[in-house]
Amino acid sequence: MMIKRLLPFVLLASAMSPYAFAAPPALPLDDRQALIETLLERMTLAEKIGQLRLISIGSDMPRERIAEEIAAGRIGATFNSVTRTDNRPMQDAALRSRLGIPIFFAYDVIHGHRTIFPISLALASSWDLEAIALSGRVSAIEASADGLDLTFAPMVDITRDPRWGRTSEGFGEDPYLVSQIAGTLVRTYQGQRLSASDSVMASVKHFALYGAVEGGRDYNVVDMSPQRMHQDYLPPYRAAVDAGAGGVMVALNTVNGMPASANRWLLRDLLRDDWGFRGLNISDHGAIDELLRHGVAPDGRTAARLAIEAGIDLSMHDSLYLQELPGLVERGEVPIELIDQAVGRVLGAKYDLGLFHDPYLRIGKAADDPVEVNAESRLHRDAARQVARDSLVLLENRQQTLPLRKEATIALVGPLADSHVDMLGSWSAAGVAAQTVTLRQGLEAAVGATGQVIHARGANVTDDPRLIEYLNFLNWDRPEVTQDPRPPQAMIDEAVRAAREADVIVAAVGESRGMSHESSSRTSLALPASQQALLEALVATGKPLVVVLMNGRPLQLGWVKEHADAVLETWFSGTEGGHAIADVLLGEHNPSGKLPISFPRSVGQIPTYYNHPRLGRPYVEGRPGNYTSQYFDESNGALYPFGYGLSYTKFELSKPQLSGHKLKRGQNLEVSVTVKNTGERAGATVVQLYLQDLVGSSVRPVKELKRFEKLMLEPGETRLIRFELGESDLKFHDAKLDYVAEPGEFEVQLGLDSRAVISERFELL
Ligand code: BGC
Repeated sequence: MMIKRLLPFVLLASAMSPYAFAAPPALPLDDRQALIETLLERMTLAEKIGQLRLISIGSDMPRERIAEEIAAGRIGATFNSVTRTDNRPMQDAALRSRLGIPIFFAYDVIHGHRTIFPISLALASSWDLEAIALSGRVSAIEASADGLDLTFAPMVDITRDPRWGRTSEGFGEDPYLVSQIAGTLVRTYQGQRLSASDSVMASVKHFALYGAVEGGRDYNVVDMSPQRMHQDYLPPYRAAVDAGAGGVMVALNTVNGMPASANRWLLRDLLRDDWGFRGLNISDHGAIDELLRHGVAPDGRTAARLAIEAGIDLSMHDSLYLQELPGLVERGEVPIELIDQAVGRVLGAKYDLGLFHDPYLRIGKAADDPVEVNAESRLHRDAARQVARDSLVLLENRQQTLPLRKEATIALVGPLADSHVDMLGSWSAAGVAAQTVTLRQGLEAAVGATGQVIHARGANVTDDPRLIEYLNFLNWDRPEVTQDPRPPQAMIDEAVRAAREADVIVAAVGESRGMSHESSSRTSLALPASQQALLEALVATGKPLVVVLMNGRPLQLGWVKEHADAVLETWFSGTEGGHAIADVLLGEHNPSGKLPISFPRSVGQIPTYYNHPRLGRPYVEGRPGNYTSQYFDESNGALYPFGYGLSYTKFELSKPQLSGHKLKRGQNLEVSVTVKNTGERAGATVVQLYLQDLVGSSVRPVKELKRFEKLMLEPGETRLIRFELGESDLKFHDAKLDYVAEPGEFEVQLGLDSRAVISERFELL
């Protein structure tokens, strides 16, 4: 059966090959290693180098040329081509190449493919691994149904600096939470079997430390101690590798003086030798060319050599491998073994994806192609709504402003209230703006004829022409920041009139999606002036104000916290965002999201991550003293801490009970705690367990998340939660980088956020 499937392309290949009259023996299709070796023996150097080339459809060359290049064996994979009808002719061309090696098709499926789920930072806010798994599985099903084989995801860069635009694309600041999500997504993208037609290969990115770029400036320098790297930034990549990620995308930044793309320590010593990664290393867009601009290579030849030596297998969107590797090998400057290793990994990925057995595994038959790729029937709206509801974080709710009454007259204002494209968030793959539900649509559907929604835009996202020009340049193919031409005051006046007629104001404000994107670093985390002016005018009406935030990073919310009656952080919540937000605003769903990243009070305070190392002169809240670590011109600590989020009900945690106060190595300690819903509504919360190593051979963090559990409780219900801790949870990288658990006292801290915790101590013997 397998042989039969492959037969046409073996025949085609042999008809065009020099062996036309004496076809080479069939490929050993059921033996991965033998197949790779056989192909390596048959391939010319040019064909090998062709396999190392990942081209971008749309920007690298015209489509007609692409087919010729593929048929000539000069391309190993493509990205940005996302339909079966587009991908099929390219696979046909690959099968016409001399050896008929299939190509694979990649794409940035980051938070959904056709159905768009909330952005990654929002997914993390759910603290719900089942919901995240659902988003991953649906993404894989939809992407593979469009003929895609690999996604450049999950993006697991730890972020402590919200100025960085790609904060939106990651899962926040905590190594444990992000690692859990990394593993979950790899497993759900790749499914039970990578060679299944509805699985896609995960290529975890950006290896490594991209989230720590200096000053939050994209593509910048990373200079970091090895301890911090191992303790805080590397674990999520490791978790993805351990979960079996087939690929790793290498970061564009430097790591301690050497660009990641030329960093042998990173890509060989750490990733391959220490972590045992056997999959495919892919460079980021144009990264090998950039080695020249980094100034570590004087010319393209050196750049290609450094990259292949460091361990980049597949080169994305640059031609240096194609141009330079043949000469480098012929002159003996790069051993052929290095090329063979890289080619072997590309072939191995194709094998694992099932493409040697069936090159059309995900492309399918033409007769089965969808008539309309964006057909409603191809979307998974229920899943998107469910996940989006889970990802919303209630930051404030004075006098139970929320939930709103269905009979209320609601003034819905703000530039994001009815914006389809912004609901998608950045990196929205093949998502279609028109298929999203805006907040206006969601609220109108939810209140139906019972209440009333009066809509007024109130403000543009920004009135700053320089910002608009930049944001529209980012989306050069389709400018998407559209301006209402009316004078700002006229828009505000209209919104104020709507507010006066209403019982409550719902203001959807924040960022346009492009403001939280690649290459969208900001020096300010404030709401743009146009939106701030709108909010101030609304507050002056004296009507209750619900601020619905849409944004891709923590914003500076001091003023909003003080003046709004309720604040709901909705991030960019995807295809079903409007319905999901309306569900929460009207109390159909009780919010349960928790922040996966702390919100600073101002840019000057960055970073405000919760798990910082202990200090000799820590600032103590309530006892401001001189000569402690603080800012004297502002309150200290995050405005909203990591793990924070309210509910329409209240929960109480008991004091934790430990199964013992001494822990022997090799044994486990049980921490149990009861959580009670003391309010009047059913609701979910997240019980969070932090640990502090009280004395270490190096300075240890004030706390670190080690476990969490999300649970739903009926009103009045109490539940006992048990967490098991073992020696491995107490380990850290000491000054010699040994991973050790040192004897001594530890504090277990339990809370419903990272700040308000109840603790107990135990000792590791
Ligand atoms: C980004 C990657 C992305 C690639 C391909 C690059 O600019 O850094 O995250 O996967 O483009 O779209």
